[in-house]
Amino acid sequence: MIIAVDGPAASGKGTIARALAKHYGLPHLDTGLLYRAVGLSVAQAGGNARDAGDALAACGFDDALLADPRLRDEATAALASIVSAHAEVRAALMARQRAFAAQPGGAVLDGRDIGTVIVPQADAKLFVTASPEVRAQRRLAEMRAHGLTGDRATLTAEIAARDERDRNRANAPLRCADDADLLDTSEMAIDAAVRQAIALVDAQVERR
Ligand code: DC
Repeated sequence: MIIAVDGPAASGKGTIARALAKHYGLPHLDTGLLYRAVGLSVAQAGGNARDAGDALAACGFDDALLADPRLRDEATAALASIVSAHAEVRAALMARQRAFAAQPGGAVLDGRDIGTVIVPQADAKLFVTASPEVRAQRRLAEMRAHGLTGDRATLTAEIAARDERDRNRANAPLRCADDADLLDTSEMAIDAAVRQAIALVDAQVERR
């Protein structure tokens, strides 16, 4: 069973994807980490994230980078969003994501284009959203939990800028797949959102 979970920044899609993976006993891939690693790698090499050549060169990053705590920074997320707009970068990361999805037994992948581009044949698709205020608040709480500080207004503006870029790019923009269920978690506690996600996945799998 392949489950695709897409949605904007800090919508709760990562938490939901991890919970689904645990519930169904499937491996999970946070595809945002791949783009974040490319973004961080460009910066480390002194390159320019807006340059397709520099960004493509960074796609050969060392996998040890995937454990780097700096991947969580909003500064890295902004770089990830910039490099992810290059068609060359998306193409370079595609095989890895599709291979992960093709594991025997299936997988859960979360990102922006999982249900639309990476695995359009997924058995279940969710598009997770939440209001901008709730998303900024959750990201702030997550940063504090990791001992980081952040300013709410700055964070809200950064998330809005990232969403705008992710939704309006020409290549694999963030959008809800036609056959995905929308899950708005604005008013939901995490356990309620996870229960709802499981119910939606079960219903989709039954329909197929
Ligand atoms: O999910 P995230 O916030 O870690 O993603 C960081 C950035 O990476 C996001 O702003 C856009 C890009 N991204 C993407 O283009 N496609 C994906 N499947 C996942 C992330």
